Formats: sequence, structure tokens, C-alpha cells
Amino acid sequence: MTTTNLADTAGAARPGTGQPAHDVADLALAGEGRRRIEWAEREMPVLRLIRERFERERPLDGLRIGACLHVTTETANLMRTLAAGGASVALCASNPLSTQDDAAAALVAEYGISTYARRGVDRDGYYAHLNAVADTQPQLTMDDGCDLVTLLHKERPADLAGVMAGTEETTTGVIRLRAMAADGALRFPVVAVNEALTKHLFDNRYGTGQSTVDGILRATNILLAGRRVVVAGYGWVGRGIATRMRGMGAQVTVVEVDPVRAIEALMDGFLVMTSLEAAAWGDVFVTATGNLNVFRAEHFKLMHDGAILANSGHFDAELQLPALHEMAGGRIREARRSVQEYDLGDKRLYVLGEGRLVNLAAAEGHPAAVMDMSFANQALSAEYVAQHHAELTPQVYVVPEDIDREVARLKLASLGIKIDEMTAEQAAYVSSWQHGT
Ligand SMILES: NC(=O)c1ccc[n+]([C@@H]2O[C@H](COP(=O)([O-])OP(=O)(O)OC[C@H]3O[C@@H](n4cnc5c(N)ncnc54)[C@H](O)[C@@H]3O)[C@@H](O)[C@H]2O)c1
Repeated sequence: MTTTNLADTAGAARPGTGQPAHDVADLALAGEGRRRIEWAEREMPVLRLIRERFERERPLDGLRIGACLHVTTETANLMRTLAAGGASVALCASNPLSTQDDAAAALVAEYGISTYARRGVDRDGYYAHLNAVADTQPQLTMDDGCDLVTLLHKERPADLAGVMAGTEETTTGVIRLRAMAADGALRFPVVAVNEALTKHLFDNRYGTGQSTVDGILRATNILLAGRRVVVAGYGWVGRGIATRMRGMGAQVTVVEVDPVRAIEALMDGFLVMTSLEAAAWGDVFVTATGNLNVFRAEHFKLMHDGAILANSGHFDAELQLPALHEMAGGRIREARRSVQEYDLGDKRLYVLGEGRLVNLAAAEGHPAAVMDMSFANQALSAEYVAQHHAELTPQVYVVPEDIDREVARLKLASLGIKIDEMTAEQAAYVSSWQHGT
């Protein structure tokens, strides 16, 4: 079934030109995109080493990969790696506001990768792009937020038979996949790249931590020193944001629903309070829960004039924007790029990047150095499922430990850092139960 309905300017594959089928904003941006992709590559030595090996060994030869990821310069380097491994790749965006149009153009015109992504595309366009990727009949799916897997399962079940496996990049996608597996609905195995230690410990924490602060600053240019910042969710992402906000001199309060995480936040030195208490206290609110309506009408009523709201969780559902729309009665305007002002009569509230992940909507997403490890896990997981899919059943798998450790080893080596090895005596000691006091 083909439900693809692309923009008039979309291009079909042009034989002889090396230009694949695509729908991007402006191919004239390809030169700038290529320069920025090469700049990102300088910070991605692990992925570069994998690409060089893939060029020699071609472990993905003939494999059709359908990817739904944030279309950024770092993702472009992952796509190049998969193509170097012999895969034929089609890429669409995993968020309408995260696409870097120059990177998308370069993928098509400079690297010959079928790309369907335009920044600011509407909902129909977003799904047309997903369907265009699904039309390529992927044998391997690579998702960030599970939208491609969901589309195949809900709208295109006939296409499921050809899919051998998938990989998933983010926490929210993994939660969805586990729910699908528990329901018996998942029809092919998926490797949860997010669960690799070399992914979430660094990407979710340091990558999102830094880039969320970056997004808020690029959107608003406010001084963070002395501000009251509320971070909802103290998972890997929330920990990173809270820590980086404190580093900028902000006073930080954490809002949680998990008592263990709340104690952790307290002992890390943050204030902890309920979301209603925090609503009246904060100047800047950042959500990172993966949950729904974390700040809603009852909170908006308590917030003070000028409060700024941003989200760094996967979906734009963490701020209850329909309620804010209603409270503003249509008095909404663009205060500056990526800042929407909601005039509630007695006060004005500001929402960044339409409530979509602020680090990608208002900045450039994670620094390449951290995506190096996340996407090394993606590339090696793709190789793993290409080799092992016949042994896997339709469930969610963690990244094999040897891949995780190999990524860490390569990263350290690329930084010129050496670490110790246990002596033979130490190795025997830690594996023995005979030694006592
Ligand atoms: N912006 C990005 O680039 C980026 C990068 C990685 C992950 N993510 C997304 O960020 C979100 C969080 O990821 P994570 O890895 O930190 O997940 P996590 O599961 O480690 O943490 C989420 C935390 O939110 C808490 N929480 C849930 N509901 C809450 C509520 N109503 N109020 C307060 N706290 C609540 C949970 O108890 C948990 O501690 C996910 O949606 C993930 O996909 C975004």
C-alpha cells in the first residue's frame, strides 16, 4: 500500500545523476550541509573507524534500511556509515522541527541518500515522509521514537513480513516497544540502542543536558545565573539538564513522581517539591519525563508573568498546550524565533519551540562527540541484527555487552586515554569466593 503524497517539489530518483528519490526543502543548501557534516565528522572518530571497516567488509551489503531519525549533521554521518556498509538507506525525520535543511540537502545531493525531511513540515507532510520510507520496503528499521515501527504495525501490516529487525534510539521509543511486546503486538525483534550504557549515560545526560541549555539560550538569550529553573523528571535527561543549569548559576528545583529519584535529586543538592509548588516558584520550566501533561492548566494559573516553558522529552505532549491555547483565547504571537507568547490577560507565558524537544527545535541537538557513541551503537547494532536476526524473536533486546564495551574502548582510544588492566593476581582475586578478611 502506498499512501505517500509528497510536496510538488519532491524529486524522484534521477538515473545517472546519483541523485536518489527525495523531498527536501532546498538542494541548493547541499554545499553548506556538506561542510557542517564534515565538521561534525571531526568529532565522531568512533563512527569514522566503523565506517572505514564497513567500507572494507560490507556487512550490510544489499540490506534495505528505513530510518526515522532527527535529520542532523550527526545523523548524516550515520547514514554515510550504513551506506558504506553496503546498505541502501531511506531516511525521514523523527520530528517536524528537528530537521536541518542543509544536512537533508547534502544527504541527497552530496551523499546520494534518499531523504524525506523538511523543517516545519505539517502533520500530513510528516506522515507522507514516513510512508515514503515505508514504501522502500525496509528490511531493517531504525527509529527514534518508534514512529516507523508504529506506522508499519498500525497502518501497513502487509509490509511487516519483509522486516527482519529494527533498532530504537530513545527512551520513549523503547517504552512503546516494550508495551507492544507485552501486548504480543510486536512482529519483529528490535534492539534498544538507548539501553546501551555508552548511549544513555552520555547522550541522554551530557548531550541533552548541554543542548537543552543551548536551545533555551539560543531561543531567549536570558541570563540563567540566579534564575529559578524547574526540571520535571530526574531520569538520565533530567539529571543532565539540572546539573548543567546549576553550572550556569541557576537555582534548580526537581519535580518527580519516583521517590528514589526524588531522594537522589535532593542528595545531589537540588530542591525537590511538587509540580504545583514549583509552578508558583519557577522562572523557567523544562520537562524531561516522557509523560503527558506534566504542566497543565492548574500549573499555568499559578505561574508568574514572563515564565518560560520548554520541553526536552521526546513528544510535544509534556506541556498541555491545548489548555494554554484556550486560556490565551487566541492571543498568541511569535515573540521571537522559537518563542511563542501566550497572553493570558493578567500575565504572559512563553513556550519555546512549540513544546517540541527544545534542544533540536531551537538549537542543533547533541554535540557530535556524544552522538559519536550513540550512532556507533546504532551502526554496530545494525550489523549485529543483519548477522543474527534469524536467532532473534519479536521482542526488545538490549545492545550486546561486547558492542557497548567496544564503543567505550574506541572512544577512549580516540581521545588518547589509556586505562589500566587488572593484574592476573587481581583478576583471580575478584573471581574467587575463597578470600576473606
Ligand atoms: N531531547 C533529546 O534530545 C532527548 C535525548 C534523549 C532522550 N530524550 C527523551 O527524554 C525523555 C526522558 O528520557 P530519560 O532517558 O531521562 O528517561 P527516564 O525514564 O530515565 O526518566 C524519566 C523520569 O521522569 C519521571 N517522571 C515520569 N512522569 C513524571 C511526572 N508526571 N512528573 C515528574 N516526573 C515524572 C520518571 O519517574 C523518571 O525518573 C524521553 O521522552 C526520552 O525519549 C530526549
